Amino acid sequence: MKITIISGSTRQQSASSNVSLYLQTQLKSISSEVSTDIFDLANIDLPMWDENTDLTQFAEQTKQLNEADGFVFVIPEWHGMAPPAVKNLFFLFGSVFRHKPAYLVTTSAGSGGRYPIPEMRMSTYKNSFINYIPVNTVIDRVNATISADGEYIAEKGFVANRCDEGLSILVEYTKAFKQIRSSDIVMEKRFPNGV
Ligand SMILES: Cc1cc2nc3c(=O)[nH]c(=O)nc-3n(C[C@H](O)[C@H](O)[C@H](O)COP(=O)(O)O)c2cc1C
Repeated sequence: MKITIISGSTRQQSASSNVSLYLQTQLKSISSEVSTDIFDLANIDLPMWDENTDLTQFAEQTKQLNEADGFVFVIPEWHGMAPPAVKNLFFLFGSVFRHKPAYLVTTSAGSGGRYPIPEMRMSTYKNSFINYIPVNTVIDRVNATISADGEYIAEKGFVANRCDEGLSILVEYTKAFKQIRSSDIVMEKRFPNGV
């Protein structure tokens, strides 16, 4: 069982990368059944999709995401939104998320960071069939909370507990969704683009 952590910032040395490292460490300590990897948008030069995009050039990335049974999205709030590169993933790789659970974690250097959560929940699931778990976590003042090495440097309290809670619930959903993906009604794919 594999959970892929998607770091949604295209900036080098981003806070979202640091948070992804921290969550990977936590995930390993929470479950020995899960393997994890990080899909960092700062390290992968993905073009914005257009209708002439040759998707075969992304076979390696498609394989990596296809092999995931669940996802953590670490998303910075930029201009009160999720970065376009995060939404672009659903254009390039939408089918890899099909009937898989995902945990949303958002980051802000200040006291923001809320807006990407409703945005992702509202607009990314229809064609992809991704399932966001009910728990999500906002990490504001992120640079005072998690270091560049992925160490939790603030006093551990609500946010740290919330991260562990979200990851633990994601692990259980990830196990359960394997069964859902193998069911007849899901395999039929009768309405491939949702409602
Ligand atoms: C283009 C851009 C827009 C931003 N807009 C916001 C914002 O709307 N709200 C907010 O709390 N922080 C905003 N920030 C600051 C981020 O919170 C900060 O960069 C933080 O470190 C998370 O982003 P990162 O993962 O790219 O480092 C913005 C940063 C950038 C680069």
